Amino acid sequence: MESHRRLIPFLSLGNHLLILLIISCLFVNHCSGSSINGGGSEKEKVTLELYYESLCPYCSNLIVNYLYKLFDSGVIAITQLKLVPYGNAKIRANGTITCQHGQYECLLNTVEACAIDVWPDVNEHFPFIYCVESLVYQGKYTQWETCFEKLGLDPNPVANCYNTGRGKELELGYAAVTNDLKPPHRYVPWVVVDGQPLYDDYRNFISYICKAYNGTSVPSACSESSIGVILASLPYRTNNRVKVISQNVGHNIM
Ligand SMILES: *[C@@H]1O[C@H](CO)[C@@H](O)[C@H](O)[C@H]1NC(C)=O
Ligand SMILES: *[C@@H]1O[C@H](CO)[C@@H](O)[C@H](O)[C@H]1NC(C)=O
Repeated sequence: MESHRRLIPFLSLGNHLLILLIISCLFVNHCSGSSINGGGSEKEKVTLELYYESLCPYCSNLIVNYLYKLFDSGVIAITQLKLVPYGNAKIRANGTITCQHGQYECLLNTVEACAIDVWPDVNEHFPFIYCVESLVYQGKYTQWETCFEKLGLDPNPVANCYNTGRGKELELGYAAVTNDLKPPHRYVPWVVVDGQPLYDDYRNFISYICKAYNGTSVPSACSESSIGVILASLPYRTNNRVKVISQNVGHNIM
């Protein structure tokens, strides 16, 4: 609350700060009432695991047009979000990893794994992964390095992670976790809430999180009417710079 009062006089300085404030509200959830009393305790949080690969169109669509709602709605306060960028990749007998959409996908999977490793706080790595996946969604993924500058992040720790082999190690770890899934994943994106796969209902993750939550800090987004749940499953940001191409639910089979 203190920081809100201190920030207000600065707004007159111009649009830049306003935009920064909005971005920080969106991702860090400073603006939601639930963050004031700390939201759900760590133990009570519902786990949402997303198994995906960086260049799969349904995966970038999910991240860019749906997953951000966890932050917008304040439901992130009761959620432990685990991103697992590996998907349908395969480990060859000689130890190399091959990816469904080619070598560039392996590169971006590893970069995203490194971002999660370097910035373990989801409020820090999600904006980066959202930025990279927005470029994927727009067919401009070769410009992924612009995300460091856009978000004011230091690229060096991620570059070190990639170049020292740490990234490969992380990918092998994600491969093991993905291949251990019970039931096994059949396609990507594969969303698991509280241990249960959502199959093709994966865009309704918010209602599954709300249902699985046993704690007392229920976010208001969970107690809204069923109309709210239906609206939450539609991409409502019509003025978003990323246009929604298709609302068909789909997935990438191995
Ligand atoms: C909520 O309680 C049910 C029943 O005890 C349990 O199966 C479930 O895992 C709990 N959910 C969470 C997120 O802890
Ligand atoms: C590993 O095997 C794949 C084919 O399975 C091959 O394309 C690749 O060049 C091999 N890599 C190394 C480092 O031997």
